[in-house]
Amino acid sequence: MERLDKVLANLGYGSRKEVKALVKNKEVEIDGKIATDSSVQIDPEKCEIKVAGNVVNYRKYIYLMMNKPDGVVSATFDKYDETVIDLIDDEYKVFNPFPVGRLDKDTVGLLLITNDGELNHRLISPKWHVDKVYYAEINKKVEERDIEAFQKGIVLDDGYKCMPAKLEILRADEHGSEVKVTIQEGKFHQVKRMFNSVGKNVVFLKRVSFGGIKLDEDLAEGEYRELSKEEIEILKSI
Ligand code: URA
Repeated sequence: MERLDKVLANLGYGSRKEVKALVKNKEVEIDGKIATDSSVQIDPEKCEIKVAGNVVNYRKYIYLMMNKPDGVVSATFDKYDETVIDLIDDEYKVFNPFPVGRLDKDTVGLLLITNDGELNHRLISPKWHVDKVYYAEINKKVEERDIEAFQKGIVLDDGYKCMPAKLEILRADEHGSEVKVTIQEGKFHQVKRMFNSVGKNVVFLKRVSFGGIKLDEDLAEGEYRELSKEEIEILKSI
C-alpha cells in the first residue's frame, strides 16, 4: 500500500502539494469514487485511479531501448556533456531511469534504460555472463589468429585476462575490417582494448545485442522505445 499523493507524484502528476490540490478540486477518483484525502493508502496495482476523468496508467518500472548516438554519455548527469537521459521525454524521466551499464561516448547502439534496480544489477553483474554483441570497424586486416586469440582470452594492457570472446570476420582486407564480437564482460573500453592488445584499433563501435535483445533497426540514433513484454521476459529470465 502506498499514499495516493506519493503514487501520483511519482507518476509525474506534480509535486505532492500539487496532487493535494488536484484532490481538493475533486479531480481524482479511486475505483469510481472521488478521493477526499491525498494521504489515503491505496494499492496502485489493484485499484483504478483517474485524474480529471482519465485513467492513470500505473506502473512501477519502465524499460526502454535506445539507439545511443555518438557524443552522448551513458549517465544520468554530466557536467559538460549531454546524457542519454537528457534525450528522453519527461513522461519517462519522472521514473528516475538510468542506463544499464555504459557505452563509451563515441559508441553507438543498443542501450537499455530502466528504473528497475534489481534487473540492472543482474544484467551488469559479472556473475551472470550476459552476452553483448558488437559490430566493429577495425583499422587493419583482422585475421584467423585474432579469432584464436579472442577465443583463448585476450590479456589487456593492465594484465587482466578476458574471458573467451567470439570474434567473427564479416569483411577483411588490407584497408580494414568489419567484425562481430561477442563478449560477456563489461570492462572499461573492453572491445577497444582487446583489439589494441592484438595491435589494431577500433574505428567504429556499435552494440547490436544485449542479453538476447536485439537493437531495433527502426530506431534512428538518439531514438528509443519501450521494450515489448516479450523482451522484458527475455531479460528477466536471464
Ligand atoms: N567496449 C568498448 O570498448 N566500448 C564500449 O562502449 C563498449 C564495449
